[in-house]
Parts: sequence; structure tokens; C-alpha cells
Amino acid sequence: MTVHPLQSRFEADIASAADLAALDAVRVAAIGKLGVVTQLLKTLGGMTPEERRVEGPRLNTLREGVTAAIAKRKSVLENTELDRRLATERVDLSLPAAVAPRGSVHPVSQVMDELTEIFADLGFAVAEGPEIEDDWRNFTALNIPETHPARAMMDTFYIAGEHERPMVLRTHTSPVQIRTMQSEPPPIRIIAPGRVYRSDSDATHTPMFHQIEGLVIDKGIHMGHLKWTLETFLKAFFERDDVVLRLRPSYFPFTEPSAEVDVGWSIEKGRRVVGGSEGWMEVLGSGMVHPRVMAACGLDPDEWQGFAFGTGVDRLAMLKYGMDDLRAFFDGDLRWLKHYGFSFLDVPTLSGGVGA
Ligand code: PHE
Repeated sequence: MTVHPLQSRFEADIASAADLAALDAVRVAAIGKLGVVTQLLKTLGGMTPEERRVEGPRLNTLREGVTAAIAKRKSVLENTELDRRLATERVDLSLPAAVAPRGSVHPVSQVMDELTEIFADLGFAVAEGPEIEDDWRNFTALNIPETHPARAMMDTFYIAGEHERPMVLRTHTSPVQIRTMQSEPPPIRIIAPGRVYRSDSDATHTPMFHQIEGLVIDKGIHMGHLKWTLETFLKAFFERDDVVLRLRPSYFPFTEPSAEVDVGWSIEKGRRVVGGSEGWMEVLGSGMVHPRVMAACGLDPDEWQGFAFGTGVDRLAMLKYGMDDLRAFFDGDLRWLKHYGFSFLDVPTLSGGVGA
């Protein structure tokens, strides 16, 4: 069998194709739908058997040879292209970033990150719940029955429409206590940061704000554990060793006994800061988980004990970073965000660290 005269011509074209586009042009011209070889193959039908016996194998060899040569050249060109990109598109990681950072981390996000870090060090996991909650988990299971005056303590947004259970915008993060106790067996150590809603609005109240809930369920848990945990957390959060706590007897339907927690403040450089005890301000609600709450979640209160606490994330941010109008948190004013925002590289620290 003689080699088809076109074979060497196509092979030369293929070898000299300088890039993938040029190679593809050769492919189309040779073995594309209207390519020379394709057309020649179509003429086989009109040939005499003798002619076809000679021309058939030659044309098939030509087509296979061209196809193979194109594939080979293609991989060479692809490798060359890759080498070129590897050589030219190198990123110099030692160079300072060319782009100035845009935007900043909102103080609420920053403080939530700080709290998560602190509690992670204490062995707490983060739990979440929906912002549209059923009224059973938001109130009833928390020992706030239908007619209980405590429901009026929180001006609740109800969701319109027919639901299996009335639905509310959760008024606190406490329903996450219920969700956690329902879904996992003790021992439990969780924090639940998130948005909550009450129809309230002035310089220190917005209809939406942020809370963080803590819940510990285990055997032999008592108020001492609660107090130590809160003290450790507040010292780490405010990055001061002289944070003093005062637990005041209080009332929450879902804890018994209940305590409101104040931190001491003092004046430094004309500013009120947390630390010392020139005066007191309330920062937390807390207490031992009420036996009825445990029972509502199917836990035996004779076997398990626990404590819970809840506090305002926005309020903690205001206290730590010296902001005085809560409404500004949610105005989206760029000047405020630039001033009070954090760099995304500001890794939240524990300052001296928990236990320091
Ligand atoms: N849920 C309470 C509130 O929103 C705070 C709290 C949480 C109190 C847990 C005690 C225990 O005011």
C-alpha cells in the first residue's frame, strides 16, 4: 500500500501549527465535516471495486494518521501552554496585597466571634434555632403558660395565618434551650447566639437585637458552676482581671432560683468602663434550669441539673467598645461602620486567655 500524497502535507501543517487555534484550523481543513479527507472518503462509493481496494485502505490510513498526529500535537501544545502559564502567572505571596481592604466586620459579628471563641475554650458548642419559632418553644415549654403575665414582659411579634401552633418571632434565644434538650441527650454544653425580636424602640432598644444563650445540663450542676462560668467568661470578654460580679435574686419562669448578674464599673479617663466596683450595671439573666422545663423536654429533673443564662450581644458590644446608641448598629451608616468596624484580620483574642 502506498502512502497517500496528502499525508506528508497534513503532517507538515500539523507540526507547524503554533497554537491550539492553528491546530484546530488544520483539523477542520483535513478531517472536519467539509475537510479534504472527509470529502475524499465520500468518493469511495463511486469507485470501481478495484479502485476502492487500493484507495480505501490508503484513505483510511490517511485519516487515522492525521487524527493521531493532531492528538499528539494537541497534547504538546497544551503542555507548552501550561508551562507558559505556570511561568507567567506566578503569584508572589510575599507582596503586600494590592487591594486596600474594603468593608469591615460589624461589631455584633465581632463580639459573637469573641464569645464563640471564649465559650469554645470552655467546651461549649454552638447551637442554632429558627428566628420564626413556635409559641410552645418560645413560651410554654419554658414554663410561661398561655395566661402567664410573663408573656407580657416581652412584646411579641406574632406571625399571621393559621399554623399548627401559633408562630412568633422569637423574643429570646431561650427556645434554643428547648430545641437542644429535645434533640440531644445530656451532658449538654451549648451557647446559642442569634437574632431576637420584640416590639420595642428607643435609644437602647431596637425591634431586632441579638442575644446569646448558654445552657449546661449535667449531673450535680449547681449555682457555683454558673457563677464560675460567668465570671470566667466576663473576665475574658472584657479582657480585665478586675471584673466583679454581683448576683441579684430575680425571677425568670424558666429558671429557679434565678439571678440577674451585674458587673461593676468604674471611671477611667472620664469614661465608664467595666472593672472595679464604683457602680453596677445589669448584663445578664441566669439561673438553674427549672425542673418543669426539663420535664417538658423529657429529662428527669431528679437525674439532671443545669444552669442557663442569656445576655444581649449588642449591649456587650456597646459596653466593651464604648458605643452609646444601639440604633446606630442597624442604620448602615458607612462612617459609623468605618469607625467601629473591625478588620477581618482582627482575630478575636482571649486577651490574657481564659484562666489567666
Ligand atoms: N431569656 C431571658 C431574657 O431574654 C434571659 C435568660 C436566659 C434568663 C436564660 C435566664 C436564663 O431576658
